[in-house]
Amino acid sequence: MKYLFQLGHQPQISAAEITAVFSHHRTIVLSCYHRENFLILETSQQLNCEDLIRTLGGTIKIARQIGADIPTYLNQTQPTGKIIFSLPDKKLAINIKKQLKQAGRSVRYIEPKNTATILHNNLVELGGDLTIINNEIFATEAIQPFEEFSQRDYGRPGSDDKSGMLPPKLARILINLSQTPKDATILDPFCGSGTILTEAATMGHANLIGSDISEKAIKNTKENLNWLAKQFNNLTIKQSSTTKLFQSDAAKLSNKLQPHSIDAIITEPLLGKPLTGRENKEQIDSQADELVKLYIDSFKAFVKILKPDGVVLFIIPKFLCKNEWVEIDCVDEIKKIGFAAVPFEIFGSSPIEHLTYHRPNQHLARTIWRFKKINN
Ligand SMILES: C[S@@+](CC[C@H](N)C(=O)[O-])C[C@H]1O[C@@H](n2cnc3c(N)ncnc32)[C@H](O)[C@@H]1O
Repeated sequence: MKYLFQLGHQPQISAAEITAVFSHHRTIVLSCYHRENFLILETSQQLNCEDLIRTLGGTIKIARQIGADIPTYLNQTQPTGKIIFSLPDKKLAINIKKQLKQAGRSVRYIEPKNTATILHNNLVELGGDLTIINNEIFATEAIQPFEEFSQRDYGRPGSDDKSGMLPPKLARILINLSQTPKDATILDPFCGSGTILTEAATMGHANLIGSDISEKAIKNTKENLNWLAKQFNNLTIKQSSTTKLFQSDAAKLSNKLQPHSIDAIITEPLLGKPLTGRENKEQIDSQADELVKLYIDSFKAFVKILKPDGVVLFIIPKFLCKNEWVEIDCVDEIKKIGFAAVPFEIFGSSPIEHLTYHRPNQHLARTIWRFKKINN
């Protein structure tokens, strides 16, 4: 069986997420092919694409290879009434429409402008959304529930525009990249408005702990967890909304949490002041120095509270200053504290030590690191 994954706007991160999810999936991946925004996997078993798309944060759609030419396939899957289909190649689509009409079928072609067009025309249910890659034809089986993501992103009551909020899709990707089992204890020590905790709750993680230096952040996280539980009427979220939340400096967490009590720390820490692009190198360097100190002090606390082999998924920012990236130099220090960087495997590519999330026109990029405690 062959499946096509259409990747989000950070394709390398999406591919790493899929690889992480398949590392503990019962299906074996027999072969893979990665090109720009697409990843094609040949699997030993049929996939539950609906389940999979709900698990992943960085995949836009999943499609299954069809074993026939397009007119035969559409005649088989939509045997009565009007055939409705979409295909990015308009010229080919018009040709197919002609063939089907000549065979006596009434046909409507929909240009797939975006995922909303596909959803609103029920093309997934009809099996009519088609993609061709390398002369192989795929029919979409599942589309990212993007309305649910934007409801969680823009609908939540507790927000903090000053410190910024992680997009829920990226929070989900981080959780998947950490490969943390559902019964593990996850801590976000810079929880802000609680995006990582709320996403973890929707994914069925029930043992969640959040802390932040700011009282307002803790209040926002509580509000967002309660809102989510009501909104989605979800029992797991209800249980996790009683999650332990408290105010603390990340560097002092070993005074608040038991030694060796945490399985995974998944966090987007303080990233510094939002940049306008007008800052000079000295200002950026001085911000970078402050962040290095905070991160190192935090990892000194993390090593105490993590269980042996505990994992840290951590974002380290880098800043664009006059067309040059200023990196935050702290990884060697983190390693000295007792951590190893665990590279991200990516189907079809070599493993990579860190991933980079960057949107055009932003002066900040997030580098994503996975560390494992080795000083047990
Ligand atoms: C970038 S925000 C995190 C946003 C969060 N990921 C979200 O989506 O809402 C960074 C957070 O770090 C907190 N913070 C700053 N310094 C801290 C420290 N020393 N210890 C703990 N939290 C700190 C801030 O209050 C802020 O909420």
